[in-house]
Amino acid sequence: MSDPVEVSPEKLSDLEATLLNTSGNVPLHNRFRSLFTLKALKNEEAVNIISKGFADESALLKHELAYCLGQIKKPSALPILEQVLTDEKEDPMVRHEAAEALGAISSTSAIPVLKKYVTDPERCVRETCEIALAKIEWDNSEEGKRHREEEKRAQMQMYTSIDPAPPTSGLLSGKPAPEVASEASINELKAKLLDNSLPLFERYRAMFALRNIGTPSAVDALAAGFTDDSALFKHEIAFVFGQLLSTHSVPALLKVLHDSHESDMVRHEAAEALGGIATPEVLPHLKEWMQRGDSPRVVRESCQVALDMYEYENSNQFQYADGLDKSA
Ligand SMILES: [Fe+2]
Ligand SMILES: [Fe+2]
Repeated sequence: MSDPVEVSPEKLSDLEATLLNTSGNVPLHNRFRSLFTLKALKNEEAVNIISKGFADESALLKHELAYCLGQIKKPSALPILEQVLTDEKEDPMVRHEAAEALGAISSTSAIPVLKKYVTDPERCVRETCEIALAKIEWDNSEEGKRHREEEKRAQMQMYTSIDPAPPTSGLLSGKPAPEVASEASINELKAKLLDNSLPLFERYRAMFALRNIGTPSAVDALAAGFTDDSALFKHEIAFVFGQLLSTHSVPALLKVLHDSHESDMVRHEAAEALGGIATPEVLPHLKEWMQRGDSPRVVRESCQVALDMYEYENSNQFQYADGLDKSA
């Protein structure tokens, strides 16, 4: 994980002014850049500023605010996240991200609110609550505690993000997984990933184990998950592809981005993953969906932010330097 960054009070108020600017004069991607810088600060001031952003109109921005609060992992963010989750008029994607952030912070005090919304009419909200509850329970289990200790000792965490579920244990929690993971173990994980009789938490564990393997076969196994009927599950696969940055995932991601019958949340995540992979052939597709009249707002905005990320990959600015877990 990158070290917290120190900034002056002046810089902090600049970041706040940019992030919270709703005049339309500040492009969305600049506001995102401020957000990513604040996230990297990992301090109470950042939590405080980010928490003020939920009055915004952009669901994309708001869901990212919630994601960042979860990743900063400060209990001081719990009240605002609970408020977002309980606001039934809020966009489901934003509420989902608030519930996931509650799972990331992993305080047992969030259990009652997560239990309340585990029956929410919005599928992606109730599924996220289910996973977050399982995560908090796991974090407090003997296995969870052991896992964290081992991870600390061996410094073997491959991705700096706090994931909604730990990788399936056994062969897969450690760094050298790609060399040792056999086709048989990939197939076993794929079977778990696709088995919708299993709890989502277990399927997510297989997903993160496959991410940690990261080979083309593991990517293929993950891509098979795009046939699932849960938008939440599919959006998480696209998110994982955004972390893996494997060019092998590009065809599957493009298919999702172009599928106008697919849920906006899944398409948005595919656009961001493509922006991270940032090979020249993905560019025209992102430009197309940034401009098309029938592009849903969250997809359009994701393409705009993704193109900005692409430009960053080809320049040297610092705001996205927080590693691979840059967006939700
Ligand atoms: Fe997202
Ligand atoms: Fe999400």
